[in-house]
Amino acid sequence: MIDQRRLPAALEVIALHTVGEVVEAIRNMTVRGAPAIGAAAAFGLALAANESPAWSAEDFLADLETAAQSLKASRPTAVNLAWAVDRVLTVIREQLFKNQETILDDLRPMVLAEAQKIADEDVEINKRMGQYGAALIEDGDTIIHHCNTGALAVVDWGTALGVIRTAHEQGKHLHVLVDETRPRLQGSRLTAWELGQYGIPYEIISDNMAGYFLRSGQVQKVLFGADRISANGDVANKIGTYMLALAAHENGIPVYSVAPTSTIDLSLANGSLIPIEERDPDEVLGIQFHGERVTPEGARARNPAFDVTPNRLITAIVTENGIVRPPFDVNLRKIVKRNL
Ligand code: MRU
Repeated sequence: MIDQRRLPAALEVIALHTVGEVVEAIRNMTVRGAPAIGAAAAFGLALAANESPAWSAEDFLADLETAAQSLKASRPTAVNLAWAVDRVLTVIREQLFKNQETILDDLRPMVLAEAQKIADEDVEINKRMGQYGAALIEDGDTIIHHCNTGALAVVDWGTALGVIRTAHEQGKHLHVLVDETRPRLQGSRLTAWELGQYGIPYEIISDNMAGYFLRSGQVQKVLFGADRISANGDVANKIGTYMLALAAHENGIPVYSVAPTSTIDLSLANGSLIPIEERDPDEVLGIQFHGERVTPEGARARNPAFDVTPNRLITAIVTENGIVRPPFDVNLRKIVKRNL
């Protein structure tokens, strides 16, 4: 995988050999972005399957379940992680239910095959979201984009940035205002780097500039991804999304969240039930300016990694099955059902 902590300074591809390394890579954000950590976790289970010393199918499943627990706990907000892990486990459980005599030599490759299927499907899903979402983008639009939702955040192509890429490939002239996305700077480090690769014009803005640009009529759309969407359409996404959506709504600018149906969690009635990850305060405190730390010795900080944008601020949610508009509590169920 690409070590996303090193971009844009270096494009380094690293190899992971154990499920423990995958858990740590997800936790420390070597790999990040909801669909990307889902796929990484699925491959993590394939490593766990390789590592398992089990001689019986029962012990093998128990080893996978232990690995699944630590993978799921590595980052709690993005539901794609638990979704991908559970999908792999279900394949193994169903196989054992059908045929208890299945030998381990047959089970191990099944874990890897399901992980690969998740990865392959993700690319296709992103392309479909790109097609649906690009229909919302007009020639000449200036778009504010939050966090990183590009190829780095998924297996390939991107969610919100995938929509922008598709619209760009259709020949639409776009300009992207890239929220730098404090404190981890996914916007200025990763999204700006990706937009440069695709030849899409952009400028970086600090997160607190968004209100200025929205109010002065310089922006036509706001686009971001999602880490978990509750049944009523509340969207948990990178910290700062809520403030951005508020300012856009106040100024009548459409707000689009782009996410695969694997990000929709129908088991949660509303966004207040979504677990919000609190990360190490040093991510806030450790920022440097001109080579010096910007915070006094001993300063304390808070660091929630995500916030929840209430559904009333969201114009539409773009999925691989189509564009969902309010009432989200009714229409999200319909769009997820199409997968069944
Ligand atoms: O903490 P991160 O960088 O993993 O957070 C990522 C986001 O919030 C993205 O917007 C989200 O995963 C959707 S993009 C595919």
